[in-house]
Amino acid sequence: MRVCVFGAGYIGLVTAACFADLGHTVAVRDINPGTVAALRAGRTPLYEPGLAELLAGNTERLSFTLDAGEALRHADVAYVCVDTPPTAAGDADLSRVFAVVDSLRGASHLKAVVVKSTVPVGTGAQVRTALDAAGLRHVAYAANPEFTAEGSAVANFLHPDRVVVGTGDEVAATCVSELHKGVDAPVVVMDVASAEMVKLTANALLATKISFVNEIANVCGLVGADVVEVARAVGMDHRLGPHFLEAGIGWGGSCFPKDSLALKQMAGNSGYTPQLLSAVIEVNDLQRRRAVQRLKTALGGLAGARVAVLGVTFKPGTDDMREAPSTVVAARLLAEGAEVRYWDPVAVPADAHPWSSCTRMATPAAAADGADAAIVVTQWPQLLDVDWAAVRPAMRRPVLLDGRNLLDPGTMVRLGFSYMAVGRAAYEQL
Ligand code: UGA
Repeated sequence: MRVCVFGAGYIGLVTAACFADLGHTVAVRDINPGTVAALRAGRTPLYEPGLAELLAGNTERLSFTLDAGEALRHADVAYVCVDTPPTAAGDADLSRVFAVVDSLRGASHLKAVVVKSTVPVGTGAQVRTALDAAGLRHVAYAANPEFTAEGSAVANFLHPDRVVVGTGDEVAATCVSELHKGVDAPVVVMDVASAEMVKLTANALLATKISFVNEIANVCGLVGADVVEVARAVGMDHRLGPHFLEAGIGWGGSCFPKDSLALKQMAGNSGYTPQLLSAVIEVNDLQRRRAVQRLKTALGGLAGARVAVLGVTFKPGTDDMREAPSTVVAARLLAEGAEVRYWDPVAVPADAHPWSSCTRMATPAAAADGADAAIVVTQWPQLLDVDWAAVRPAMRRPVLLDGRNLLDPGTMVRLGFSYMAVGRAAYEQL
């Protein structure tokens, strides 16, 4: 099939590259000249494992343009993959989605318009109305929410648990199914509103599992239990599952914070007060502050202390800093009067508060050199290869808060660290 993908961000580019790899011809349209120029020059403007290889391996089926008309010229299907960031009110900002819909005017040869962007329930109905008003009544509409996680997006796209299609139109359902031919997963067809809700519900439930295990971790630390052991055994119950039960300093990224807030606001706008979801968000907000508080207690105050922040992306395997817990940790440390040195193997944080007041170091050891404390914020595997025996004597004070329960506590204690973990009573507070 011939597809036009709007948006060359994480979702759009992965979608385009995977469709091309499945044998379809894909024209990608983005409004950012730098992004389009980079892609045309064969450069991948973002870090996502496997994406560059997929783009490079399918150049004959991929094109990139700033011009919507050009991208749409031969397309059977238009895929909307633009971002929907929170507005000042915490709702999803749909202006980019509707800008794309506007640009479809005249593309009467299209068979279907598919929205992959994460949107509030009811957006599909609004897009349908806009398409009708633009003279595209005959063009089918579908929601096809994405369930790809950054760092494993290509694998998630090509080997998903399911493909969800929300539509009232058989043509759209057939188009989306055809596009996914070669993907070994059930295609689940439902109405548009339910498909939109599946996406928000899945992310909210994943975020809930993490906040829940973090709350359990905080209790474990107080009552003499170890959350790692607790989660391991609880996760063996097939009704509960082992995933998303890793306690730490909480979730971040471009999806959970935005989508949980959007669902909360959407529920509120519809007249329901979502108490559980509100608590899930609050537990997460507090979890990262709690980490700084623990460092403050351990050091007897943070003013004048030097703290090494190890890992700053919102999770390993990505360069994405959006809503990264590290940003709150760094800002809180600075506010308490600490000096912050940080290390990350990939991310280059924007030159803005708090990172503009922090010092980037080339290695974890360099960041920890002369520090009063170090905190593991992102569980990059490189941290497992650090020569911690050499790091320990180089620190002014060997306080180490493992915010992701990444390191082996026994080893760290043996090496002489004042080691703290999350939800492991033996390593709760110094
Ligand atoms: C998430 C979902 O996992 C995807 O299914 C979804 O498609 C995507 O959002 C989206 O809406 O686009 P992503 O945000 O890329 O994907 O990352 P996750 O791997 O889900 O991690 C989210 C956050 O939760 C990270 O900060 C991670 O460190 C944290 N996390 C995850 C935990 O603290 N504990 C866990 O056990 C798992």
